[in-house]
Amino acid sequence: MANDKIEVDNMQRILVADDVEINREILCDILMDGYIVETAEDGAQAIRILKEYQSDIAALLLDLQMPNMDGYAVLTWMEDMRWLDTIPVVIISAERSIEIENYCFEKGVSDFIHKPFNSSIVRKRVDNIVELYTRKNGLEEKLALQAKTLEEQELIIQLQTRRLKDTKIFNDLMMQYHAAILEVEAKLNVLYAEFAQEYNRNPFESIKSRLKSPKSIYEKLERRGFPINTDSIREHLTDVAGVRVICSFPDDIYRLAELVVSHDDIILVQKKDYIKNPKPNGYRSLHLILDVPIFLSVGKQYMKVEMQFRTIAMDFWASLEHKLRYKKNMENTEEIERQLKVCADSIDILDDQMLQIRNKIDKTHSALLRRDQ
Ligand code: GTP
Ligand code: MG
Repeated sequence: MANDKIEVDNMQRILVADDVEINREILCDILMDGYIVETAEDGAQAIRILKEYQSDIAALLLDLQMPNMDGYAVLTWMEDMRWLDTIPVVIISAERSIEIENYCFEKGVSDFIHKPFNSSIVRKRVDNIVELYTRKNGLEEKLALQAKTLEEQELIIQLQTRRLKDTKIFNDLMMQYHAAILEVEAKLNVLYAEFAQEYNRNPFESIKSRLKSPKSIYEKLERRGFPINTDSIREHLTDVAGVRVICSFPDDIYRLAELVVSHDDIILVQKKDYIKNPKPNGYRSLHLILDVPIFLSVGKQYMKVEMQFRTIAMDFWASLEHKLRYKKNMENTEEIERQLKVCADSIDILDDQMLQIRNKIDKTHSALLRRDQ
């Protein structure tokens, strides 16, 4: 039975399932000025109406003891259909046993009202539950929509990346960037050998080289609004080839960077000194963008290479900070950022102290050598 109120368009629909007519009538009276009320005399009828209206049912008021099919069977059916997540069920029953009440809550019902009930309390509890579920369902719908959009975007990215990766011209370009990395590595290795031989010390601890992945290349061009093609990569990206040099001491960084730049085949395109001018988050490194010549069968060609120089301690900080930055759901972000900045500043002091210790050792060593001569 549906009530015949005007303005039913915006009204939500409630299903009352109870075998006793007087109970159905009382519940209808309580609810009909705010809801469209459907009624069922037993579980089977309730399920028919649920199937007909599905998520249009804003709440089900369910009696437990009913002929043909009882309330427990309705609950089990809804559980199997996974409808208990979206349609709130309020049990209205004369049952007083705690076990039964517990059983119903464990099944997933939202509320349990004992008969005989107080009309205005029933109405308020139903209103609350309907509002709560309307919001919850709306939110879940929004989240599902967002997840779908993200999935679609990810799919597009994968597709475009594959297209990029599969072209010969793209692979040729990547080979050229790789060649540029090899050139820079060769220069660094020569300097390493020379320092070990002449000065008995290492100018750097390690080198980490990487070619930017096709996916990152695609995403960066897209993010910056540039066309997705090899000319655009060459023109707009400076970090496809990356060489990171990890030094022991801050002064090694500058000495080594100067030596690399002083090679007459290297062109310094850009220098960003985040050691003298650290980023607000505390990040410290020396960045150089270089034009590096590679020698192909077709002739000489200049390729961009991004070099990053940092100390071991700065590298330790940067890797941890990078990992933390990608944990999007972290709380207390401001506090964590503040702590990271404190760590970065301590690392700077530490680097300085280690440098002073090294200088002291060097001085003592030179004095000893002079004495022994
Ligand atoms: P990107 O678009 O990230 O390449 O920045 P950019 O082109 O403005 O160049 P920038 O020289 O600032 O940064 C180049 C690279 O340095 C980044 O891709 C990172 O690898 C590294 N980097 C820069 N800033 C930070 C930072 O705050 N934390 C960490 N961990 N790495 C950084
Ligand atoms: Mg970069």
